[in-house]
Amino acid sequence: MDFFSQQWATYRAVVSHDLMEHRAVAQATANALEGWLAQRSASAPPPEMVDLGCGDLALLAPVLRRLPLGSYTGLDLTAAVLPLAEKALSPMPYPCTWQEGNLLAWSQSEGPPVAILHSAFAIHHLSDAEKTTFLRGARQRITADGLLLWADVFREPGEGLTAEQQSQVIDHLSSFDIPAERGAMETLAAAAGWHWRWAWQGQHQAEALAVLTPA
Ligand SMILES: C[S@@+](CC[C@H](N)C(=O)[O-])C[C@H]1O[C@@H](n2cnc3c(N)ncnc32)[C@H](O)[C@@H]1O
Repeated sequence: MDFFSQQWATYRAVVSHDLMEHRAVAQATANALEGWLAQRSASAPPPEMVDLGCGDLALLAPVLRRLPLGSYTGLDLTAAVLPLAEKALSPMPYPCTWQEGNLLAWSQSEGPPVAILHSAFAIHHLSDAEKTTFLRGARQRITADGLLLWADVFREPGEGLTAEQQSQVIDHLSSFDIPAERGAMETLAAAAGWHWRWAWQGQHQAEALAVLTPA
């Protein structure tokens, strides 16, 4: 088994044993998306969605399949996950694009505004300075009525993750993972032009879903 396959098999085990509450995250994500779609004008065009660090879509594919999207773009730094994501979503109910790329670079690139930005368990790989750059860039890439869904591990102000959290939740995480401090990130997001709402909190006080909308 090559390095990617080993790493991904470990992550798959974390997901399938629900150690990071991916099922609840997927449900909270579905609720947030369905709530946002329900309050949209019926005459609005089907929204485009960009998924930053999409992974293999093992849990999100059933949610995505039932959404009335105009298009879906799955972007990931790891090219090897993209065929897995494509397979998980097939048959695709709307046009889908698969891109090997860096979510931070995507946020800094020019392009038409997108209605739905989604990122699950990927932004914590950025340093805090990079997270701020990402939030500023993503704010330029979202429509005025758009939605940024950020599911991730977060940490309490001034705290690292406890030993118990580390063993229960993130055995697979490496020293390169940098969970955002909740309050500090809310402040940085506000400065970047976002309104922040916590839509779901996991039972480990680590995983959470933040819903960001243009302020
Ligand atoms: C823990 S997995 C999460 C996958 C999926 N979103 C989920 O919730 O199951 C993190 C994913 O983010 C990707 N990733 C990490 N850093 C990234 C970056 N800077 N830009 C794009 N993708 C990145 C990894 O390749 C991996 O597929």
